Amino acid sequence: MTTLFLGARRGAAARLLPTIAVALSLIIYVASLTVVLDAQQPRSVKDGIYTDAQAGRGQQIYQACAPCHAASLQGGLGPPLTGESFIRNWSEYPLWDLATKIGKTMPQTRPGSLTPQQTADVVAYLIKVGGFPAGQSELGVTQAEMSSVGWTGVSTPPARAAAPAAGTPAFPPVGTLAQVMRGILFPSSNIIFNAQGQDPSAEKTPYTSGTTAFSWADWGAGIYSGWEMIDFAAISISEAAPLLLTPGRRCENGRSVPVERQDWNTFTRDMVSAGRAAYRASQTRNRDAVIESTNQLASSCENCHMVYRDKPGGTQTDPSNKAARCVP
Ligand code: HEC
Ligand code: HEC
Repeated sequence: MTTLFLGARRGAAARLLPTIAVALSLIIYVASLTVVLDAQQPRSVKDGIYTDAQAGRGQQIYQACAPCHAASLQGGLGPPLTGESFIRNWSEYPLWDLATKIGKTMPQTRPGSLTPQQTADVVAYLIKVGGFPAGQSELGVTQAEMSSVGWTGVSTPPARAAAPAAGTPAFPPVGTLAQVMRGILFPSSNIIFNAQGQDPSAEKTPYTSGTTAFSWADWGAGIYSGWEMIDFAAISISEAAPLLLTPGRRCENGRSVPVERQDWNTFTRDMVSAGRAAYRASQTRNRDAVIESTNQLASSCENCHMVYRDKPGGTQTDPSNKAARCVP
């Protein structure tokens, strides 16, 4: 039943060699670039990292964005591109991540249609509207240049999960842990692992009832692009992880999910991190980055399974020793 999950894991291992080769060549490459990188001092959006002329060009380009994000950038159909919630979303990441998000996924109706220069210009415009000052030189289009710009010194009040209002209905668990795993984590992981064998950029043939076998990886192909499928799967894993901590849930064998144990909490947090990393990778629309992220994802599942799921000592009636699950 876990074939794709396990098969994909083998695929990930098989890719390790090329990964090491790439890592090695990167180390060499970076070493030869040190001189250039030294000149790329870390900067903040507050440091005058664009020019007024560049932001002016960006404003023109922004006309393609305004139908969804509003002329004021306050958001409409799409989220606001200025203000607190916007900055909070991006302030952990270098400007390169914001530029990549725009360059690869926007305008939503024609993703990938902006040139690197247009992308940098529109980023300059967003920075200007954000109230950050212009300077003497333009924001460059290269990864090295935009990765050196962060949000140091720009603070926003942290987002707080709203405290439940009095009288808010509580939602006790409905399923066993195994059902949550099979219903959410298993299909979502497989959609991400599937990037190993199938290019998410490829045109998808929509599923037609009665003509092809149903496949989780193709689910929704007629509605969402291959890349969006990976976005949503990564989000599902990140967001569903707290379900592993819902008090009162039982495992299939009737034992309580050990939510009070520290290692259980750590395993769950690691899975959230892996889901977030997969989402970041997916947002770059770079297939190799997503494939790379599956190593972290697979490990985050396996590390917990080794302790709490895959128990030795099965019997003929209970070969995988389910009776022993959910205790360390
Ligand atoms: C057809 C509507 C549409 C158009 C046109 C469009 N966007 Fe978006 N944009 C969206 C939606 C919907 C989202 C939220 C989903 C997502 O993050 O992919 C979004 C998200 C974003 C985000 C992420 C914001 C955040 O804080 O998460 C940025 C940045 C962005 N758009 C920039 C642009 C820029 C720049 C343009 C013009 C070049 C543009 N968008 C054009 C609909 C649109
Ligand atoms: C914090 C610990 C933990 C993490 C993290 C975790 N699992 Fe699990 N998983 C379990 C336990 C325990 C069970 C057995 C549940 C039961 O018996 O009710 C299980 C069961 C499963 C099953 C059902 C297997 C069967 O016997 O039918 C699948 C599928 C699964 N996990 C997939 C995943 C995937 C995919 C991930 C990572 C995205 C993941 N799990 C992450 C603890 C974890």
